Amino acid sequence: MTTIQETALDQPLLRPAALGDLRLPNRVVMAPATRARAANDDLVPTEMHVAYYAQRAGAGLIVTEGTWVSERAIGFVGVPGIYSEAQVAAWRRVTGAVHALGGRIVLQLWHTGAASHPDNLGGERPAGPSAIDPGEKSFTATGFKPTVTPREMTAADIEATIEDHRTASANAHRAGFDGVEVHAIGPYLIPQFLNPRLNHRTDAYGGDRARRHRFLLEIIDAVAAPWDGRGAGVRLSPYWASGLFQADEETLADYDALVQELNDHPVAYLHLRGPNPAGDPDLDAFARYRRRFGGPLIVNGGFGRETGNAAIEAGVADAVSFARPFIANPDLVTRFALRRDLAEGDPATYYTGGAQGYVDYPASTWQDA
Ligand SMILES: Cc1cc2nc3c(=O)[nH]c(=O)nc-3n(C[C@H](O)[C@H](O)[C@H](O)COP(=O)(O)O)c2cc1C
Repeated sequence: MTTIQETALDQPLLRPAALGDLRLPNRVVMAPATRARAANDDLVPTEMHVAYYAQRAGAGLIVTEGTWVSERAIGFVGVPGIYSEAQVAAWRRVTGAVHALGGRIVLQLWHTGAASHPDNLGGERPAGPSAIDPGEKSFTATGFKPTVTPREMTAADIEATIEDHRTASANAHRAGFDGVEVHAIGPYLIPQFLNPRLNHRTDAYGGDRARRHRFLLEIIDAVAAPWDGRGAGVRLSPYWASGLFQADEETLADYDALVQELNDHPVAYLHLRGPNPAGDPDLDAFARYRRRFGGPLIVNGGFGRETGNAAIEAGVADAVSFARPFIANPDLVTRFALRRDLAEGDPATYYTGGAQGYVDYPASTWQDA
């Protein structure tokens, strides 16, 4: 006799969950993935974006690709924005399609700061917390180029950047999104402020730990405002290692304090990227933050069906997000439910523009063995 627990459909990842006000029918979240398909001068999402996200509407929640909060935020080619009316109108078509198909979708807000390049900013020098080259690479129209020494942001720059985030969040609300997520991972603007190796400021936004955290916390408060207190998602990567980013004990202690501070701000959920996936994800690396943050937690980085189910079953997370698996498997939830094999994506088409490797991955059918 097969019990209900043994049937394919009873998997922790397939149980409903609440992330704040967001009701998810399953815990399989589509992680944000830059795909560089807004290959037009105005950085407006296209009909291909509508198809791409609509194909993935079965996700418990879609987090969009990182999206520019302003022209000053740009640091990669072909990435859409949310600062112009044309962009808002185009995103409304995306959210309309996802909602019509029963899905939920939040917009990820992105600013690259010192990790940009003059080629991406009309020849202007990028700005960051301090005049220190992060030693990263920026994707320009003529390929990846090394970053340069940025201009140190003035107090007015910081104020304007927080305002840009607030306006972008209000635009996302008008475009029909279910929420926004603050992109605070990798080597980009917000982690630059958090990082003592890149933030040598002596004003209210640099120096001790609390001052380095202030920029992010003010952005969280600003972007939550248009959502009637429902809060914003926040994506962090304490384990990130590249250039001047190191996941040493000091960094981890810093993030312990930061995650605890999030409890006092309007955070709808915390979305954590774990250590670089080599083998199965280390659940202890996430449990550290589960203990410190009282709200819903989404974990990410190298998960599959079995390890995702294990994370939910162990109580380490409320949901698991998948980036590369969703690129190649638009019907990822169905494939998990039916324990189907997953298709492998082609990294060569991640950022190439065009339909190939973007909207042409097939969904499986009942007839598939
Ligand atoms: C093509 C590609 C683009 C990505 N773009 C973003 C992005 O825009 N914002 C973000 O926070 N993370 C981005 N990531 C990181 C993923 O969200 C995720 O953290 C990473 O791929 C590990 O998860 P996975 O093992 O499920 O793929 C990107 C990853 C890939 C492969």
